[in-house]
Amino acid sequence: MTILQARNLRKSFASTTALQDLNLDIQSGSFFGLLGPNGAGKSTFMSIVSGFLVQDSGKLTLEGQALVPSDIAQKKKIGLSPQHIALYKELSAESNLKLFGKIYGLSGKVLSQQIEYALEVAQLSDRRKSAVKEFSGGMKRRLNIATALMHKPKILLCDEPTVGVDPQSRNAIFDTLLDLKGEGMTVVYSTHYMEEAERLCDQIGIIDAGKILRTGTLDTLLQELPRTNIIRARAASLDESNQAGFRQFGEVEPDGSSLQLKTQADFKLSHFFRWTEEQGLDASDFQIARPSLEDLFLHLTGKDLRE
Ligand SMILES: Nc1ncnc2c1ncn2[C@@H]1O[C@H](COP(=O)(O)OP(=O)(O)OP(=O)(O)O)[C@@H](O)[C@H]1O
Ligand SMILES: [Mg+2]
Repeated sequence: MTILQARNLRKSFASTTALQDLNLDIQSGSFFGLLGPNGAGKSTFMSIVSGFLVQDSGKLTLEGQALVPSDIAQKKKIGLSPQHIALYKELSAESNLKLFGKIYGLSGKVLSQQIEYALEVAQLSDRRKSAVKEFSGGMKRRLNIATALMHKPKILLCDEPTVGVDPQSRNAIFDTLLDLKGEGMTVVYSTHYMEEAERLCDQIGIIDAGKILRTGTLDTLLQELPRTNIIRARAASLDESNQAGFRQFGEVEPDGSSLQLKTQADFKLSHFFRWTEEQGLDASDFQIARPSLEDLFLHLTGKDLRE
């Protein structure tokens, strides 16, 4: 079932077009990755869905109903963890959560219960009384996500939640979001890291210049690429005559201290390894990479995902 649908969504800021006929269908219960470079329109999309911005034209539906910014019942179904941390630095973790809960109309026992729940999700129960200004980047990020969960939304929009976060907190955030998905929540996750999209998301939308270029699972998206292998070899492990032999398998480019080979269409890995064996080369000096979302992005746009 589609929980969130966008049709021909457009949004401009003065002369900048942030969203240009954006179309999207997000399935209920999915972990949907919005993958795109800086300025692609990810935050603008999330801001419109959560009612902080209004589109110039186009339509959004939530569970089949037109999404209306003033509809409180609809608002309660959506949680936004914004890209830029939105917390009160002087206040404690607990007070921040209380404040966000009250904004969503929670009070009394439900409010206290949700504060406990959110502290647990953020793994900050033991730091509940500490002021946010004393927190590390990762702790702030976790709390920034937890505030979006106070009103038990059905759909959580998480805008680049791992930027500036240490690896341990990053893994904690991944685990938390995957748990939330396990409990049936729909997670929309924006990122410009293809590794995150590959690791976390069951559906991925590739966004660039305000448009969704493709959506699908990792596997279906990658099927669009020509079936080339990339083989990396340490340049030092190949002498001149071997380098010439290496070239018979495709196009070779130097890449730092490595040689990168893009194989031809009729390439067979078995032929390649027969050759390494004949030459007395060590097979473990060659790394074989499958195409990635980064390659797909380059294929679709002619640009690198990362600048
Ligand atoms: N309030 C604003 N005023 C003017 N231009 C804006 C505003 N918000 C966004 N833009 C522009 O709209 C485009 C899309 O921006 P958006 O923030 O949605 O991209 P993004 O995909 O979230 O990028 P990032 O990965 O850097 O966060 C950019 O060109 C941006 O400069
Ligand atoms: Mg953004």
